[in-house]
Formats: sequence, C-alpha cells, structure tokens
Amino acid sequence: MSDYQAMQAELTGAIAAASNLDALEALRVAALGKAGSITGLLKTLGGMSPEERQSVGPQIHALREIVTAALAERKAALEGAALEAKLAGERLDMTLPAAATPRGSVHPVSQVMDELAEIFADMGFAVATGPEIEDDWHNFTALNIPETHPARAMHDTFYFPDANAEGQKMLLRTHTSPVQIRTMMSQEPPIRIIAPGRVYRSDSDATHTPMFHQVEGLVIDRGIHMGHLKWTLETFLKAYFETDDIVLRLRPSYFPFTEPSAEVDVGYRQEKGRRIVGGNGDDEGHAWMELLGSGMVNRRVIANCGLDPDVWQGFAFGVGVDRLAMLKYGMDDLRAFFDGDLRWLAHYGFGALSVPTLSGGISA
Ligand code: PHE
Repeated sequence: MSDYQAMQAELTGAIAAASNLDALEALRVAALGKAGSITGLLKTLGGMSPEERQSVGPQIHALREIVTAALAERKAALEGAALEAKLAGERLDMTLPAAATPRGSVHPVSQVMDELAEIFADMGFAVATGPEIEDDWHNFTALNIPETHPARAMHDTFYFPDANAEGQKMLLRTHTSPVQIRTMMSQEPPIRIIAPGRVYRSDSDATHTPMFHQVEGLVIDRGIHMGHLKWTLETFLKAYFETDDIVLRLRPSYFPFTEPSAEVDVGYRQEKGRRIVGGNGDDEGHAWMELLGSGMVNRRVIANCGLDPDVWQGFAFGVGVDRLAMLKYGMDDLRAFFDGDLRWLAHYGFGALSVPTLSGGISA
C-alpha cells in the first residue's frame, strides 16, 4: 500500500467515525486547511521534477477528491441526523384527546346561535349580519316606521349625539330587522337568511337588559304565504326544542314592517318551577306563552328596498335568542347572562368542541 493509500484509509476511517459536526470540521482543517496534511502534499508538487510530478500528482489529487467527498457525505449524514433529533424533540401527538377539563366554555348565547345557524342551514337559510351602530333609515324609516310613529318611542332607542355625513341620526339598532333591509338591498331574490346579533334598548329589569340578542328570519321569493311561515317556525322549533310535540298559535298582531302580522305563541307546561316547551296550550296542565313576532313582509318595505311587491313576497320573524336559551337550558335570570360570572359560565357553558349538528341531536 502506498503512503497515499494509507493516508486515504486513515482519513476516510476517521471521517466515517466523526460523531458530530465539530469533530468533522477539525478533521477537515487537519487535512485540507492551510496547514493541513493534504495541503502540505500539494505544496510539494512545485519542487518536483516533471516526471515525478506526472506520476505523483494524480495520486495526491485523487486523495484530495476522495477525502473532500467523504467529508461532504459525512457532513450531510450528521446534519440529517441532527434535524431528525430536533423534529423528534418537537413532536406533538395530535391524536391525544383535549384535556378533560379545559379552561373556558362557550357562552349559551353563542351556543344557541350556532344551533340556530345549523337548524336553518338545513332549510337552506344563510346567515346574514349587519352593523350594531345603525342609521335611522335602516332601523326605522325603511321598515315603514316614520318619524312620528309611536313605535319609535316604544323602542327606547339609544341615539348618538351626532348625525352621520348624510345628516342621518345614528343609533344602536333596536332590533335585527334592519338586516332585512340591508339584505334585500344587496342581494337578488330569492332570499333565505337568518340574522342573529346584538340589539339595544334603554330598558333594564329582571327580564330586560340594555343589550340582548335577537335572531331575524327573512324569506323573499315568488308566491310566499303564511303557510310557509308557519311550517318554517314549526320545523325550527321542533328541531330547537328537540321534540315533535310543538303546537303553535298564531294571533293577529301589528308590526309596521309586516302585514298581516302575527304574534306566535307556543304551548308549554310547568314542571318544578320551570317552563317546558311542548304540547297544546289549551290542554289540561298547559298554557300558551308568547314567543316571537312575525308576519308577511309589508309591500311598502319590499318597495323601499327597490323590489317589485307584485313579483316578490316574503315572510319575516324576530325571536329573542336569550329567551330561547333560557327556555331550553333552564336559566331563570336574564341578567346573569351578562355578568361574566365564571361559576355561572362553568355551569351553563358548553364545551368548545361540542359543535351542534342535526345528525347528532342539536344539543348533544
Ligand atoms: N323586530 C320586531 C321586534 O323587535 C320583531 C319582528 C321581526 C316582528 C320580524 C315581525 C317580523 O319586536
């Protein structure tokens, strides 16, 4: 074995045995650095006779090539191993179930809104939203509630001190009905939407808070009549209260934006101081409770939105979401909804992962 072959065997052996990048770098410097062994050999070429150089030169160059390649190969292997080790250290097992007692919970109002979105999505309704800071026109005028209408006083409106750029009075919306207007003005019929959200009225006692939640429903299409309204409400309430035993009573009523209008009552019975929705309100042990306002969208409202009321008809309804939550989940004081009491939230809140689905039973 020539000296070069011996050197090659020794160097490649040491390189293959290098256990980390620092050791490998030290080997590189020792062989190929300024004062390295192979560098030293290359320097001797200058002092050789042409014949000597012709026989020795290729051997030294071959030695350098082989050692350089061995260094690169070992470096790649060590870096790969370092990455594997890092990844293994950072590994997260995504199959682990979430902690059994997660901190925080979903507020019943959010949960009920999710339930409503799920129920109505199944009937082909999209979810629409509108601003909580509204102008007078969308909240009142377009809904056929003119300036002098007593309904304006009834709504106990929170007004802002300043008008907007168009001279419109600004206010906190008193109901979700302005989303009807915004939807009809921005979408082509047919329209099927629900609009859940916060509403505000200057009112406060055990059953009224200055901010509460409503969900609006709106259908605009050809040939819509009150039968569609009643079926939709029945189907919704059966799914929401998770019983087929839902009996509705429609009473004539008045809202400026619907004509005719109907107040919808639902049968219930009292059990351990709690109202359980279900049954005919006229039956033994039962009574009626007023649940929501509804009606056929007034022709004037349809026209205000630039649609032809001879072509397009529809129905609308509005329900209190907090009220729906209380009836289903048994809370008795509305004010507790907005106290932010962690004990109340721990008791009435929902797991973040229990998303309502129709197939799973809406609140399962
Ligand atoms: N906006 C009405 C309210 O807040 C409810 C309602 C909505 C009535 C839609 C009829 C139609 O009292």
